Amino acid sequence: FQPKRLAGKKLLITAGPTFEPIDPVRGLTNLSSGKMGFALARAAAEAGAEVTLVAGPVHLPTPRGVRRIDVQTAQQMFDAVLPRAAQQDVFVATAAVADWRPATLAEHKIKKQPGDAGPPSFALTENPDILAGVAKLGSRPFCVGFAAESQDLARHARQKLERKKVDLIVGNIGAATFGRDDNALLLVDAAGERELPRNDKLTLARELIAEIATRLATP
Ligand code: C5P
Repeated sequence: FQPKRLAGKKLLITAGPTFEPIDPVRGLTNLSSGKMGFALARAAAEAGAEVTLVAGPVHLPTPRGVRRIDVQTAQQMFDAVLPRAAQQDVFVATAAVADWRPATLAEHKIKKQPGDAGPPSFALTENPDILAGVAKLGSRPFCVGFAAESQDLARHARQKLERKKVDLIVGNIGAATFGRDDNALLLVDAAGERELPRNDKLTLARELIAEIATRLATP
């Protein structure tokens, strides 16, 4: 690990889940802990980068030297990321963004109906794809996406690379990475594939930051 390989570079990272409110006390979310994104923010700052971390609701301390913007919903994450993206050298999307949100937000807590009215039903609407949105910008940063797949990781990662038109896809090897302190990664890009074997998330984050630094140096 070479310390200041990202000096003078700007990195924008999304992390954690999003929370999509249904009413004032309920919402849709997922089990992302934000650990991988926070580890990457720390590793990038250690490597000398100017780091902005856009975080969904997580219980993690802000890494030293990192500028953090807290958001709740996918739309808020999109609104925090898009205006900043063109000025960045690298965008890393680790957030587990909710694909859908309730189409309407109830102003008051939805009450159980007496009798046999049955449970309420919700219409869902699609959230914006933050990574694809950044990748579509005219002048855009080096874009890195994550993939969590339960099967056929390499094939799905390569499809995601092409569909979202990003520079690098990082696959989580093994299904249950959410909340764990370790992980194993498969890097997929136009040049091929490379595995980063199982390790704690901070070590993997440092390795991934080194891989990104190498790709920035040799475009
Ligand atoms: O295909 P999928 O949506 O699962 O791709 C996951 C990648 O895309 C991750 O890097 C995730 O952070 C990003 N993503 C996003 N906005 C969404 C959905 C996914 O930035 N609405």
